[in-house]
Amino acid sequence: MMPEIRENNIPAVTLNNGVQIPQLGFGVFQVPQEETQRIVEDALETGYRHIDTAAAYRNEAGVGAAIAASGIPREDIFVTTKLRNGEQGTAHAAFQNSRTALGLDYVDLYLIHWPVPSQGLFTEAWKTMEKLYASREIRAIGVSNFLPDHLDTLLKASDVVPAVNQIEIHPTFQQQDLAVKSRSLGIAVEAYSPLGQGGDLGAAAVQSLASRYGATPAQIVLAWHLAQGTIVIPKSSNLARMRENLGATALTLTSAEMAEITALDSGARVGADPAVAAHSQL
Ligand code: A2P
Repeated sequence: MMPEIRENNIPAVTLNNGVQIPQLGFGVFQVPQEETQRIVEDALETGYRHIDTAAAYRNEAGVGAAIAASGIPREDIFVTTKLRNGEQGTAHAAFQNSRTALGLDYVDLYLIHWPVPSQGLFTEAWKTMEKLYASREIRAIGVSNFLPDHLDTLLKASDVVPAVNQIEIHPTFQQQDLAVKSRSLGIAVEAYSPLGQGGDLGAAAVQSLASRYGATPAQIVLAWHLAQGTIVIPKSSNLARMRENLGATALTLTSAEMAEITALDSGARVGADPAVAAHSQL
C-alpha cells in the first residue's frame, strides 16, 4: 500500500539546544523567484511545516509571502535560511537582510552556507551568529557543507556547538564518516539533495523495494534517510510529488532493506566540493 499521509505525522528531531525541527522539511533550492510563493503555499497546504531556503537562492521573499498568506501561526513553521559566502565578513547585515526579505521577527535556523576555507572568514561569521543567537533573533545556528577539518577549526574557536550540519547525502553519496563525526559532536545531520536531485530514484535496489512496498522510489529513499535520524529537505515543484514525499514518514524498512540502499554508495557528488567551493555569489 502507498503510505498514507496522516495529520501531524512528521517526526521531530531535538537539536542540541532543545529546539525541535520537523525531520522532513521542504527545500526551495533552484525554485525560481516568481514561483516560490505558489510552491511554498502548496507545500504548507500539503502539511510541510519546515521550509529550507538561503539568501543565495534569491527566493526568501517568496517563502515569506507564502508563510504570511498561509495564515498558519508563525511558531508552527520552522524556517531555515543561510549566510551567503560573499557576506561572511558582514554577517550581521546579511542576516538582517534575510530576516527582512522573509518578513519574520526571528529565524528558526541560520546556517553558514559553505565554509569557503580559502576566505578564512567562517569563524568570524560564526561569532556574529553567536551574538544573533544570544539576542534571540535566531533559535538555532548551524553550518552547511562543513567537512571534518572545518568543524574542528570552528569548534576550537567558538562557544556554541552548531545545531546542524547540512550536507549532501543520498544513496549514491553518503558521507558516512562526516555524518558520524557530526553526530558524535552533538550536531544533527541534515541531508540536502536527499534524492540525489532525482538521480538516485532509478537505482535497481530502490525500484525493487518500491514495488515490494507498493510505494514510490522517492518514498523508499526518504524512508531510508528518516530511519537513520537524518533531517531531509526534498524539493518538488509538483503538488502530487510533495504529497508523495510526505508519505515516506509512514514507511519502515527492515535492516536488510536499509542495507540494500546503503550498498549503493559510490562516492559521486552531485553538488560542489566544500573543500574548494568558493562561489562568492552564493
Ligand atoms: P520536481 O520538482 O519536478 O518534483 P532533491 O531534493 O534531491 O534535490 O531532488 C529534487 C529533484 O527530484 C527535483 O528535480 C524534483 O522534481 C525531483 N523529485 C522530487 N520529489 C520527487 C518524487 N517524489 N518523484 C520523482 N521525482 C521527484
